[in-house]
Amino acid sequence: MKTRLNLLFASVALSAVLAANAIAQEDDPSLDISKRCTICHTKEEFKQKYTSDGTRSVYVDIVKFRKSVHGKRGCQECHDDISQIPHGKEVAKVNCIKCHNVANKIGAPVTEKYEQYENSVHGRAASAGNKEAPHCKDCHGTHEIRRPDDPASLVFKNNIPEDCGKCHKEVLALYKKSIHWKALSRGDSNAPVCTDCHGEHNILKPVENGSTVSSTNIVQTCSRCHADERIMSKYGIQSEQVDTYKESFHGIASEFGYITVAKCNSCHGFHNILPPDDPDSTVNARNLAKTCGQAKCHPGATENFTKGRMHVSANKKESGKIYWIKTAFTWLTILVMAGLVGHIVLDMFNKIKEKKKENEHHNKSAK
Ligand code: HEC
Ligand code: HEC
Ligand code: HEC
Ligand code: HEC
Ligand code: HEC
Ligand code: HEC
Ligand code: HEC
Ligand code: HEC
Repeated sequence: MKTRLNLLFASVALSAVLAANAIAQEDDPSLDISKRCTICHTKEEFKQKYTSDGTRSVYVDIVKFRKSVHGKRGCQECHDDISQIPHGKEVAKVNCIKCHNVANKIGAPVTEKYEQYENSVHGRAASAGNKEAPHCKDCHGTHEIRRPDDPASLVFKNNIPEDCGKCHKEVLALYKKSIHWKALSRGDSNAPVCTDCHGEHNILKPVENGSTVSSTNIVQTCSRCHADERIMSKYGIQSEQVDTYKESFHGIASEFGYITVAKCNSCHGFHNILPPDDPDSTVNARNLAKTCGQAKCHPGATENFTKGRMHVSANKKESGKIYWIKTAFTWLTILVMAGLVGHIVLDMFNKIKEKKKENEHHNKSAK
């Protein structure tokens, strides 16, 4: 009984000493101010909703912070409006661009890309006061920021769908049905994530011309992978899809700037793309009449309308009739051209001969 009381007393005394020590440290002007921040902000109790209005935790996981790309930075380098302790309730938002700008001297990496954030759909929405729009920290995190090639980073390729999906929940749900997601979840880095189609810092609305997914640019965006024989051969997917599209009626009309003509995404969808043999695919034989029959395209399209294959390469025997027609036309063209050239050559030859004869005749009569 006595020992227990002693223990209790000892521990109370110990915590009192520790607490006093902490308070002393908080006030110790010789202590690096960043160290003083951690005295409070790494306290267990700060994990609770610790602000005066009881809305959020102000706990900082110092181990994670030290492992982050900014682990060597002092707290105040980012929270530069705090100059004394205790500090006030209102603390300014951290400005990442303060360091990540082309003129920075401390070695913060810069590419012009994320300076484009300001003009992106997100940057514009944020500056217009949309509270839902992401600032740098909403995609990158705060104290645990890692390099994009670090699997623990929020913006590591495989983590990007969840990162964007925090806000774009419905899109994420559709994307998770796609063949692209299926490949990604196998760890396949050839599969497109949100940013492969949309960009990261320069994301625009699809209706804006500069958007990588606008109707003028989408063919280009899908082609980056689908026209690449090296990538596509791994999956047994034909990489001529792009060429055959360009040869098709839709492709030709599209080259001429008809933006309402079918693009890759008009037929395949975009977030929920599936292989043609999947019964849920928009280009599965079962669904083609509906896909082609969209109000803006071919209203009233029937199954007969969709009987032809879509991507046919006229350069392959397997394409049947189309191959033979193209081949016949090629030969016909060659023969006609050859005939024409032959005709011209013969004609010229004749003319030269006649001219010679005439000259000889002249010469003779002159003598
Ligand atoms: C004496 C303990 C203590 C020390 C030392 C301390 N803080 Fe705080 N800090 C708090 C408390 C308590 C809050 C919650 C304020 C509130 O909303 O009532 C807070 C809030 C914050 C916030 C969040 C403000 C917000 O609105 O979200 C930031 C950022 C912050 N502190 C940074 C720092 C930095 C950087 C340092 C070191 C320079 C530091 N703090 C030192 C106790 C401390
Ligand atoms: C690379 C910049 C950076 C550094 C370095 C940094 N912070 Fe922060 N901190 C942020 C950002 C960004 C936020 C989110 C709020 C905002 O946008 O200002 C934040 C928020 C906070 C908050 C509010 C609670 C939260 O997590 O949202 C506290 C408390 C805080 N920081 C304390 C610290 C302390 C203590 C240190 C030093 C150990 C530190 N910070 C170092 C960028 C930084
Ligand atoms: C005080 C200056 C400073 C601020 C403010 C700052 N950073 Fe950094 N950041 C750096 C430095 C320096 C590095 C390089 C660290 C290294 O490589 O050792 C860096 C590296 C990074 C990297 C890793 C880049 C790479 O490819 O290696 C990312 C991502 C990053 N910062 C994002 C942010 C975000 C987001 C914010 C705002 C929440 C921010 N930074 C605020 C200084 C800063
Ligand atoms: C909509 C989400 C999003 C927002 C908002 C965002 N980023 Fe990024 N950021 C990304 C993604 C995704 C990557 C990874 C790109 C990659 O894989 O190379 C990245 C990469 C980076 C890098 C690493 C270097 C590079 O370009 O590869 C830095 C530094 C960076 N961002 C800083 C910032 C800053 C500063 C802001 C705010 C002005 C910001 N980011 C806003 C998504 C975002
Ligand atoms: C913090 C929440 C948040 C995160 C994270 C976020 N977004 Fe957004 N995003 C928004 C909001 C809000 C809008 C609407 C802006 C507007 O319409 O003014 C938007 C708009 C968009 C648009 C244009 C939509 C349209 O209808 O025109 C695209 C595309 C987009 N985001 C893609 C992404 C991608 C890709 C990522 C990840 C790299 C991402 N977003 C991360 C909140 C977010
Ligand atoms: C294979 C390319 C591709 C991928 C991957 C992709 N998108 Fe899209 N996304 C598109 C296209 C194309 C459109 C525009 C379609 C149109 O014309 O309306 C679009 C439209 C959007 C829109 C606006 C319209 C809508 O449907 O809400 C948002 C927001 C968006 N994408 C977010 C995302 C997010 C978040 C991810 C990742 C989870 C993602 N996208 C992945 C191609 C893609
Ligand atoms: C970053 C590269 C990349 C981009 C961009 C991309 N894809 Fe893919 N796509 C792939 C890969 C890799 C596969 C194969 C996945 C598998 O089979 O596991 C695939 C599979 C497909 C399939 C299924 C083919 C089959 O028979 O299995 C279709 C259809 C498709 N993509 C259409 C599109 C369309 C349309 C776009 C543009 C909106 C697009 N893709 C953008 C890489 C990409
Ligand atoms: C007019 C509708 C339409 C357009 C536009 C279209 N496709 Fe297709 N796509 C189809 C149909 C239908 C199939 C099913 C097989 C077939 O008929 O060739 C298909 C099949 C595919 C396949 C699977 C091929 C395989 O080997 O498994 C890929 C990949 C593909 N398309 C990519 C694209 C890309 C990339 C674009 C844009 C350059 C595009 N498609 C434009 C309708 C279309």
